[in-house]
Amino acid sequence: MRLTRFFLPILKENPKEAEIVSHRLMLRAGMMRQEAAGIYAWLPLGYRVLKKIEQIVREEQDRAGALELLMPTLQLADLWRESGRYDAYGPEMLRIADRHKRELLYGPTNEEMITEIFRAYVKSYRNLPLNLYHIQWKFRDEQRPRFGVMRGREFLMKDAYSFDLDEAGARRSYNKMFVAYLRTFARMGLKAIPMRAETGPIGGDLSHEFIVLAETGESGVFCDRDVLDLPVPGQDVNYDGDLTPIIKQWTSLYAATEDVHDAARFEQEVPAERRVNTRGIEVGQIFYFGTKYSEPMKATVAGPDGTDVPIHGGSYGVGVSRLVGAIIEACHDEAGIKWPEAVAPFKAVILNLKQGSDDTDTACEKLYRELSAKGVDVLYDDTDQRAGAKFAAADLIGIPWQIMVGPKGLAEGKIEIKRRADGSRENMSASDVVARIAG
Ligand SMILES: Nc1ncnc2c1ncn2[C@@H]1O[C@H](COP(=O)(O)OP(=O)(O)OP(=O)(O)O)[C@@H](O)[C@H]1O
Ligand SMILES: [Mg+2]
Repeated sequence: MRLTRFFLPILKENPKEAEIVSHRLMLRAGMMRQEAAGIYAWLPLGYRVLKKIEQIVREEQDRAGALELLMPTLQLADLWRESGRYDAYGPEMLRIADRHKRELLYGPTNEEMITEIFRAYVKSYRNLPLNLYHIQWKFRDEQRPRFGVMRGREFLMKDAYSFDLDEAGARRSYNKMFVAYLRTFARMGLKAIPMRAETGPIGGDLSHEFIVLAETGESGVFCDRDVLDLPVPGQDVNYDGDLTPIIKQWTSLYAATEDVHDAARFEQEVPAERRVNTRGIEVGQIFYFGTKYSEPMKATVAGPDGTDVPIHGGSYGVGVSRLVGAIIEACHDEAGIKWPEAVAPFKAVILNLKQGSDDTDTACEKLYRELSAKGVDVLYDDTDQRAGAKFAAADLIGIPWQIMVGPKGLAEGKIEIKRRADGSRENMSASDVVARIAG
């Protein structure tokens, strides 16, 4: 992508309304624009990141055996009356009427709708277990939308729903999602710790929130320092095998949100020097809720002995759009964002330090062609800004590799590359640049 043809409205000034660094940097880097309180338009740079994150979430859900579908954003109020949540959900629910005065709502979550789909088709335990998910916009009329996409009103969520014959099966499904979440967040360069959590309006009695530690986070958390260094299961993890050793390893060390924190247990189980009490960002939450929806909504299957039993359910959310902010909170410095490669909007940016000069133009065009041909997402800063402004913009938008092409280096056959993550620099020939970045 040539920067002269891209849409990257970088802001010079720090926007006053942004209280935390990720919000400030997303606005300054031209990633998104607020259209109303808690409602954002995703501009091209931000949208690229959002799609990368969404794709990692999708790949790990698929690997764990969940099946993707897509449910609508609008739902019938009557469906929610079946579970009793239409009234219980309160003012966070955006309620809408159509021209026939039918009551609708913009879905804040989808337990009811997926249960309705399930009960229409699945009648036998032989079709279980089943886990269905979608990645869809949600609306919650938050009392205090703030921190940009971290607490929006309209936001993108991955939500999965599992169906099992009994509690033992449901716990196996829960464990699969637990492991899939460990992998999902690690692939994005994040350390997200599963912590025991309250179940809230989703209901149920078993739940973990996946929390990225950050001072700007909205949740207070307590954990054993050792939990921060536990190994994340590899790509070869066998989801059909026994996952309980992994779950035991991750849940035997103390980690809890403030809502369920037990101070006496914490002090008893965790030696003083390993006690961590800090704040964090909730990037995902998983729930086991048994028959909370299947009983009132009559989602039953015939068991092995032929009698109908309500299924045991769980639901599993990931805050896809919140993750964009959470990753920035974890990966930035004073100059701007430092994207982990897996979610970066571009892998590399070519900075032509003397635009309009034959030698740098020719070298940049060649690099741009060769990297693109090798499938590298590369941005070419071909604007006629001075070098200093190009460096600042590249640091701000956080592309992992900066390729700096200036007349002095070229005269010696050298191009400088800089890794945004640690600022390390190296000089090498153009062909080595291509090999390094494409390799
Ligand atoms: N207002 C929001 N803006 C952006 N992401 C959100 C918002 N609310 C929830 N999420 C994300 O969706 C995920 C699943 O939704 P869940 O129902 O668990 O949210 P929640 O517990 O109500 O979130 P919170 O406690 O932050 O309000 C959350 O873990 C979070 O990452
Ligand atoms: Mg939650």
